[in-house]
Amino acid sequence: MKYLDELLGKYESLAWRGELHVPVSGIEFDSRRIRKDNCYVAIKGFLKDGIAYAAEAVANGATAIVSSHPPPPGDLQVTWVQVKNDRRALSSMANRFFDDPSASLHAIGVTGTNGKTTTVGLIQALLDSGGAKTAAIGTLGMHFAGLAQPTKLTTPEAPELFAFMAAAVQAGCVNLVMEVSSAALSLHRVDDIAFAQAVFTSFSGDHLDFHGTMENYFEAKLSLFKKLGSDHWAIINADDPMGERIIRELNCRYVTFGFSEHADIRPLKTNFSLEGVRAVLQTPRGKIEIQSRLLGRFNLLNIMAAVSSALVKGVAADRISAGLSAFLPVKGRVNIAYAGDFLVVVDYAHTDDALDNLLRAFREITRGKLILVFGAGGSRDKTKRPRMAQVACRTADRVVVTSDNPRQEDPQAIIADIVAGFDPGFTGFISEPDRRAAIGKALDMAAAGDVVLIAGKGHEDYQIFKERTVHFDDFAVVREKMGLPHA
Ligand SMILES: Nc1ncnc2c1ncn2[C@@H]1O[C@H](COP(=O)(O)OP(=O)(O)O)[C@@H](O)[C@H]1O
Ligand SMILES: [Mg+2]
Repeated sequence: MKYLDELLGKYESLAWRGELHVPVSGIEFDSRRIRKDNCYVAIKGFLKDGIAYAAEAVANGATAIVSSHPPPPGDLQVTWVQVKNDRRALSSMANRFFDDPSASLHAIGVTGTNGKTTTVGLIQALLDSGGAKTAAIGTLGMHFAGLAQPTKLTTPEAPELFAFMAAAVQAGCVNLVMEVSSAALSLHRVDDIAFAQAVFTSFSGDHLDFHGTMENYFEAKLSLFKKLGSDHWAIINADDPMGERIIRELNCRYVTFGFSEHADIRPLKTNFSLEGVRAVLQTPRGKIEIQSRLLGRFNLLNIMAAVSSALVKGVAADRISAGLSAFLPVKGRVNIAYAGDFLVVVDYAHTDDALDNLLRAFREITRGKLILVFGAGGSRDKTKRPRMAQVACRTADRVVVTSDNPRQEDPQAIIADIVAGFDPGFTGFISEPDRRAAIGKALDMAAAGDVVLIAGKGHEDYQIFKERTVHFDDFAVVREKMGLPHA
């Protein structure tokens, strides 16, 4: 049994009332999840202050409340601890509760605007191929060979995160690779994870609704790298202008990857096709020949990031090649949904940068027309809508503008924002707010040699509207429209 006083750091509490040496059977920040003898960490969120639910937490059995608010006057049934930063306290307490699991793991954090999920999947595959059991955390959930747990957030909240890591250590994992979102960094969710490597995939404007400015967003990402010490490694995309800025701030060793001449890990020969990619990579440990089923030029960047990470970890070149050839596309990331005379690809690209990369990658390997179906999420960063339109009309031959997750917004209004961003002379588009119908129209346009790209939702199997969330799966719709049985 753990006790509250051992879970609290020496300097974290500003004031308290009640007995500090009380047993703690678990840590929760959601009062509804509190069980007997749990500690309730009340988080002051953007919309709600968790303190409003303190009474409910106590009614559910909490023995202690940790909050940034001072202890109230009057009789208290439970111990009350005031801390400087509630989110920091949540992370450090959860970490101590689960006995600092990252200390027993080689932890790799992957950050960047795009490519995190794919790169995490690749790194896990390469390290596993090297014979070391590796746990992964990200948009697709938390998993290792033998356990898969879905998550709501790309980087889950501390109690969930550390519980999983402890389970991974128990199960014999020696590595952990995780997506680290910029929000998670700003909200102190990963403060107590000792990263041995941090990987920078790419940087472009996204999540500006949350971070306000590009600079704040970048600073959030940078904080992951600034924490690395002299025996740690940074793995940096040399093609991205922000890579240079990160390198200037590092106190650790680093390797760079990219198409640039000066990258430590770079391709000498490449072949991109609708079958995948083949390449010879120059690396500090000699040449490595690789082939992968992943499609598109940008995926070679993700592959090089993963190869860099595996090389740093000491995985042998033949294990790297073997791991890569066996690796199948991550669900919803440049995934083939139909292959016949023409190809239909579902992808998660939902930023202008990702969309641009996707389109250009397919322009390079498509004989016929490039037909794009896309929309933009509602109640999120609106500035990207015209930019997405710009990249779409620049490279796609035909565009069907449709709905993504409209959320609280009117789908037609989102479409209007997108359409307003097209070049005045661009006539190759139609609008169809109903995503199922939009996919149908795109498939009707397709002829032999064409590629239909369905962007924005990837692995998602739902569509969020103002009043309701409905089941929606791009893959299933493609199969239905092509007259194929359910997968
Ligand atoms: N290295 C990259 N650079 C730019 N865009 C990328 C890169 N890797 C993937 N993408 C695009 O971004 C989308 C999201 O990729 P994903 O691996 O899920 O990254 P993240 O987890 O960062 O969102 C992909 O579907 C693809 O269109
Ligand atoms: Mg992700």
